[in-house]
Amino acid sequence: MNVFLTGSTGFVGGELLVNLSKRLEVNKIYCFIRASSEADAVLRLQHVFNLHNDFFDSSKIIPVIGDLFDENLSESLLNNKSLNNIDVIIHSAANTSFSRIYDDMVEKANISGLEKILLWAKKLPNLITFQYIGTATICGKDIKNRIVLEDESPNINAGHLVKYTYTKMQGEILLRKHLPENKILIARPSIIMGDSRPVMPRSPVILWAAAAVNQLRLIPVHEHALLDIIPVDYAAEAIVKLLFSKRNHKVYHISSGPAAATSTYKVCKFLENYFPDAPPFNYVHKPLLNQIKNWTRNRLQPESELYNYPEYLDYWKKVFPDPGTLRILFAGLEPYLEFMELGQVFDNSRLLEDVDIKQSQPADVYIKNCIHVIKKIDIMEGAFNP
Ligand SMILES: NC(=O)c1ccc[n+]([C@@H]2O[C@H](COP(=O)([O-])OP(=O)(O)OC[C@H]3O[C@@H](n4cnc5c(N)ncnc54)[C@H](OP(=O)(O)O)[C@@H]3O)[C@@H](O)[C@H]2O)c1
Repeated sequence: MNVFLTGSTGFVGGELLVNLSKRLEVNKIYCFIRASSEADAVLRLQHVFNLHNDFFDSSKIIPVIGDLFDENLSESLLNNKSLNNIDVIIHSAANTSFSRIYDDMVEKANISGLEKILLWAKKLPNLITFQYIGTATICGKDIKNRIVLEDESPNINAGHLVKYTYTKMQGEILLRKHLPENKILIARPSIIMGDSRPVMPRSPVILWAAAAVNQLRLIPVHEHALLDIIPVDYAAEAIVKLLFSKRNHKVYHISSGPAAATSTYKVCKFLENYFPDAPPFNYVHKPLLNQIKNWTRNRLQPESELYNYPEYLDYWKKVFPDPGTLRILFAGLEPYLEFMELGQVFDNSRLLEDVDIKQSQPADVYIKNCIHVIKKIDIMEGAFNP
């Protein structure tokens, strides 16, 4: 099998690349990668393997320099005759930013970029499977506090908290526009946070939110809403095994499902043991977020409910001497808080039935292996670049 993989330098894609490189069924892995030169591309790929001391086989891993933003991408891929023997494409590259300032780039990478890959893919003589790494959160913001099934998406009427999930939903629609049903495979991971192994994950993204919540301690969120979170090693294992399994469906959630779902309360309860010097976690209702913002601007009304939490206000003054920092932190965290309140759990029975994989570990269990990372995360950096 010859695989064309996009996004191999990313959080999920890096794990996919290493995992795939160990499969005997895989002959070559062509990695679509942004790089300034061939040498730079090889260096970036080497780094993917070095991170966890995996073996980099340069005869098996072949860089294909390119950018989803390139207007002529389909043509240049088509002109690259060494790619004619590709039989599997795994499209993991995406712009995953939640920040509005990146909305245009998110749309360009996740919709136009994908379409350019599809225009090339549909002309490949030997293509068997196009595995699209989607996201379970394309179901949108209107589904709350229940189990979500694969067939509920894509729903073009769904409302979205961020442009990213909208573009991923459009991506699935594009896939069906360009490819016949028998070539399509969609893996929709839920929320991927950290790694269940005691290693440095390739990206601190969702762990950043955990680190920020851990620092803040007074959180405007419904703490018992269920959270469907999986570690990246599990996500990659499931995605790769899915590719090699006998499948009865086109779309699969890669998720904790109800059996391993967690909650903000459970994750924070665990974190509390490791950071005994901070005040205990406390949860308030969402409208208090505006009061917090006003407090950071010195504009809080004297009768405000926030004054019922003096311990936290004193703690914030100590930890965030510049109140502007606290405001930026909450602004970066805001979309995450909204996701945390939805209470969505993604049914994983298809995955467990068709793929030889066990249930994932709950996040409040495996997070013990992420404590060393949480301690190192620069929460302000993440807040500036959500
Ligand atoms: N992380 C999650 O919680 C999560 C959950 C569900 C689904 N997913 C899906 O999983 C996939 C991978 O996500 P991730 O967390 O691994 O994201 P990530 O860490 O941000 O990695 C994104 C990857 O896409 C590449 N990329 C971005 N823009 C590109 C462009 N213009 N041209 C070429 N390559 C480009 C990046 O390359 P550079 O290194 O050059 O920037 C990187 O390799 C995405 O499709 C995402 O929707 C992620």
